[in-house]
Amino acid sequence: MSFSHRHLLGIEALRPDEISTLLDLSDTYAERNRTRTSCTEVLAGMTQINMFFESSTRTLASFELAGKRLGAGVMNMAMQASSLKKGETLIDTALTLNAMRPDLLVVRHPHSGAVDLLSQKVDCAVLNAGDGRHEHPTQALLDALTIRRAKGRLHRLSIAICGDIAHSRVARSNIMLLGKMENRVRLVGPQTLMPSGIEDFGVEVFEDMREGLRDVDVVMMLRLQKERMDGGFIPSEREYYHRYGLDAEKLGYARDDAIVMHPGPMNRGVEIDGTLADDINRSVIQEQVEMGVAVRMAAMDLLAQSLRVRRAAQDVSVMA
Ligand code: NCD
Repeated sequence: MSFSHRHLLGIEALRPDEISTLLDLSDTYAERNRTRTSCTEVLAGMTQINMFFESSTRTLASFELAGKRLGAGVMNMAMQASSLKKGETLIDTALTLNAMRPDLLVVRHPHSGAVDLLSQKVDCAVLNAGDGRHEHPTQALLDALTIRRAKGRLHRLSIAICGDIAHSRVARSNIMLLGKMENRVRLVGPQTLMPSGIEDFGVEVFEDMREGLRDVDVVMMLRLQKERMDGGFIPSEREYYHRYGLDAEKLGYARDDAIVMHPGPMNRGVEIDGTLADDINRSVIQEQVEMGVAVRMAAMDLLAQSLRVRRAAQDVSVMA
């Protein structure tokens, strides 16, 4: 098996062959999910705790469904953002949970690095469901699977990631994954929404959207993350839509068969035209949601396998 990680904390730690292993298994789950006989016993007897310190609709539902389809016992814990102002609170919570002996812990947290920290304190496998502006590995994997299925490959493609890059963990994880798989990544948006040190990312940067979209295979739109903004990053939403909102006219600069993606939740009329988002000939947004469940099943399956191997090795050393 070419996947022996203990946790899934980010794309940064994954090799290209590990990404392919994950996507291949996800493909199998995607097919199985379509045949209504989607339940398996891969996680039977295991406990999955979803701990979300930040609100979520699709990611939480997706992880919950993925766990249930694999036969795990799933528990959701909605954590109050106000109860984690102090670092100790997070560690204490982790230790308390650890004492309940879960097998898989799915964590979303508003602070970059918090999930990593938590993973160092527990015995189970930890999956990062988004930490601050840092990483959102399962989102990048489901985006990659959607692209691979639509385009028939995941290399030598030209992909434009557009909008609020600075505040986006989705963008960071995607830039890393698509780069590792040898694609050309373009970032499109106003300078105020580009992260500092962008030159080191190995990407091309465009302020003009039409220029940035020229001949690309994939247009990935991002939500304006107002909750992470502490100042005036854009003149107005109307002006932003005018310059960076994706509509049919701007999409006309991309390849004729270019696909449109968005991780959700969407601000219709701010970063994307609602009609275009719903156009099933161009938009793969619903497919992304579908692939999300498959990717999370694959990730938990692989982590559970390495957890079993580790536990078996521990049992042997205790007996010896
Ligand atoms: C993204 C997130 O939470 O980072 N959403 C998601 O997981 N589908 C993107 C966003 O919130 O804009």
